[in-house]
Amino acid sequence: MHIAMIGTGYVGLVSGVCFSDFGHEVVCVDKVAAKIDMLKRGEVPIYEPGLDAMLAKNVAAGRLSFTTDIAAAVAGAEAVFIAVGTPTRRGEGHADLTYVHAAAKEIAHALADYAVVVVKSTVPVGTNREVKSVIEKERPGFAFDVASNPEFLREGAAIEDFMRPDRVVVGAETDRARETMRALYRPLSLRETPMVFTTLESAELIKYAANAFLATKITFINEMADLCEKVGGDVQHVARGMGLDGRIGSKFLHAGPGYGGSCFPKDTLALTRTGQQHNAPIRIIETVVEVNDARKRAMTDKIVSAMGDAVAGKKIAVFGVTFKPDTDDMRDAPSLTIVPTLVGGGATVTLCDPQGEKEGGALLPATTWAHDPYEAAKDADAVVIITEWNMFRALDLKRLRGAMRGDVMVDLRNIYRPAEAAAAGFAYTSIGRAAR
Ligand SMILES: NC(=O)c1ccc[n+]([C@@H]2O[C@H](COP(=O)([O-])OP(=O)(O)OC[C@H]3O[C@@H](n4cnc5c(N)ncnc54)[C@H](O)[C@@H]3O)[C@@H](O)[C@H]2O)c1
Repeated sequence: MHIAMIGTGYVGLVSGVCFSDFGHEVVCVDKVAAKIDMLKRGEVPIYEPGLDAMLAKNVAAGRLSFTTDIAAAVAGAEAVFIAVGTPTRRGEGHADLTYVHAAAKEIAHALADYAVVVVKSTVPVGTNREVKSVIEKERPGFAFDVASNPEFLREGAAIEDFMRPDRVVVGAETDRARETMRALYRPLSLRETPMVFTTLESAELIKYAANAFLATKITFINEMADLCEKVGGDVQHVARGMGLDGRIGSKFLHAGPGYGGSCFPKDTLALTRTGQQHNAPIRIIETVVEVNDARKRAMTDKIVSAMGDAVAGKKIAVFGVTFKPDTDDMRDAPSLTIVPTLVGGGATVTLCDPQGEKEGGALLPATTWAHDPYEAAKDADAVVIITEWNMFRALDLKRLRGAMRGDVMVDLRNIYRPAEAAAAGFAYTSIGRAAR
């Protein structure tokens, strides 16, 4: 099948590359010429493990190409995917649909034959119908369908998630659209991946409900961690004991500095706005948003308190700044709240992250970067772990402590055991556990 993928960000590029790996002919479009130039040279603008090799393989096979020319890409396509960004609208929390509407308009003018316009971007309920109206208005009488096909991949494991999803969700209104979607995902049906066919509205809601639920799970265990600290519990034990209950499950029960990233913060907020707009407030999620925002600030207080309530003149090494490991994505990362506050308090901060410098360089000014954690920790008063990249998971704690002038370690991901940190000479603080 022929596919046009509009938007080559984290979702569009991974989806385009994976669809070409299924055997489809895919043209990826972006309006940022520099991105397309890079892709044409075989360079991948984002960090996503395994993506470069799969991209090269499918370009070589002649199934995958890149262009800024949306008209040429859409003209021969049986399915046109919209995978543009839907960030938070400035100042109020609704999803900004400017890019989706603009893409729909451009697609409308470029359609040559019947095609299914598939909205893969995360969009509030009602948006697929708006996309349909935009195209109908631009091309009255033209035969096309709209389908909602939200994406559930995780950055850092995006290829695996796309190739082996738990389910594929499709909202569609005609048999023709459903058949096209079935054909696009046929390779997955061989693996018996469930396909959930539903209405446009339900498909849109499934995506927000899933993300909001996962964000709630994280926020729940974070609040349990706070309680553990007050009463002498261990949140790791609580999470394990809860998570082994098959009705609950162990995933997304890791206490930490609060969720960040390109999806949970904006999607939880947008869902609360949708609820309010339709007079069906989702109070649980309103609270989750509030608690998570407060948590990022509380993490800075935790660091400052571990350093004797004063960071001015102190040297702090920060390990991990991306919102999670195995991505270069910095959107809404907890480090963006924590690091500027430490710098503002007069600390000298050295950052270490395998992929964070490209984006983080501009976002975290007045800091220095080190490539090696021991180098970052040299003469530091404190080490703070914000993101649990593999390179920080098995540090030689004695060597690390030996490089420092102080003894404070604040481990916001509970990577280390309190006893081993103490044995290496650290004054160790973590999340939801006693110090020793
Ligand atoms: N990042 C994730 O992990 C993830 C996971 C699931 C769903 N989503 C959703 O997928 C959507 C895309 O997210 P992302 O992280 O890939 O965004 P992104 O910002 O990384 O990429 C969007 C791309 O679209 C391009 N674009 C915008 N308008 C265009 C137009 N008219 N024509 C051509 N290109 C255009 C931009 O230049 C950019 O490269 C969002 O709605 C997001 O919520 C993201």
